Amino acid sequence: MQLERSSHGKVNLILNILGKRPDGFHELETVLQPVPLQDRLRFRREGKSVVLTCSDSNLPADESNLVHRAATAFLRAARISEGVRIELEKNIPMAAGLGGGSGNAAATLLGLNELFDAPLAVGALHQIASNLGSDVPFFLADGPALATGRGEEIERLESFPVLRNVSILLFHPGFGISTPWAYRKLADFPQAVQGRSGRARELVRALQQGSLADAAAHFYNSLEAPALHKYPILDLYQEFLRAHGATVALMSGSGSTTFALVERSADAEKLARDFRENFGDSGWMKVLALGGSGI
Ligand code: C5P
Repeated sequence: MQLERSSHGKVNLILNILGKRPDGFHELETVLQPVPLQDRLRFRREGKSVVLTCSDSNLPADESNLVHRAATAFLRAARISEGVRIELEKNIPMAAGLGGGSGNAAATLLGLNELFDAPLAVGALHQIASNLGSDVPFFLADGPALATGRGEEIERLESFPVLRNVSILLFHPGFGISTPWAYRKLADFPQAVQGRSGRARELVRALQQGSLADAAAHFYNSLEAPALHKYPILDLYQEFLRAHGATVALMSGSGSTTFALVERSADAEKLARDFRENFGDSGWMKVLALGGSGI
């Protein structure tokens, strides 16, 4: 029996870092919005070990791969001695701040739980997910969420009315940013580690009523401090996007993807053309309907 699942991406509408914790992680509050990008995963019960293949040769398919780690952790927790074969088809850019790897890991936990007739309860899956990475628990369900702690404490939210007809433009410049690097570099930007608690909930309220323009001032990302300092081009992208029709332009997660929110889809298409004309054809770009919902 083969099971096929897709895993989507996310952007952080706000990522507000509140301080450094004794365990080395950072305390934060973030609003995560699913975006309809899709990696595909195929699972089959086979052999005695975890065998992973990946469509993108840039991504190691060995034990370091988050999908491999998720499968190993699942089989151990469920006390299953059988093996699995997993094929991963990558479309979401990596080291991009779009949660591709985290989404793959969550899809693996959910897919294997189905393939082996649900040996693990939701709580156990959540526990494994948060051990794999701070963003993984978010991807165990669809729809937007407010996340706190190091990102693993999830409050599910209704889709945001303000985003219902909004288009999102995503641009990945072709270089990635390592998440540990971005957090480490925060040490050089003390202001960025001392966010005021409550800002994420203010953004949530603004997205539940009013307009995108009214909510725009609430979008924020603490990790832009190190990222835009090292890569000033990211700042230029945002300036250009705002000057050419985007209501919001921000970096997602630890970067390097920049996203722009545009109220009309025709304007988003035009913005994409203008952006290409100005910055050239390199890099990866997508224009998608956000839908204000999950996937
Ligand atoms: O949890 P995840 O594997 O995504 O984290 C990658 C790295 O990012 C961590 O090892 C840590 O250095 C940093 N991080 C952090 N605070 C968070 C999330 C991640 O310092 N809340």
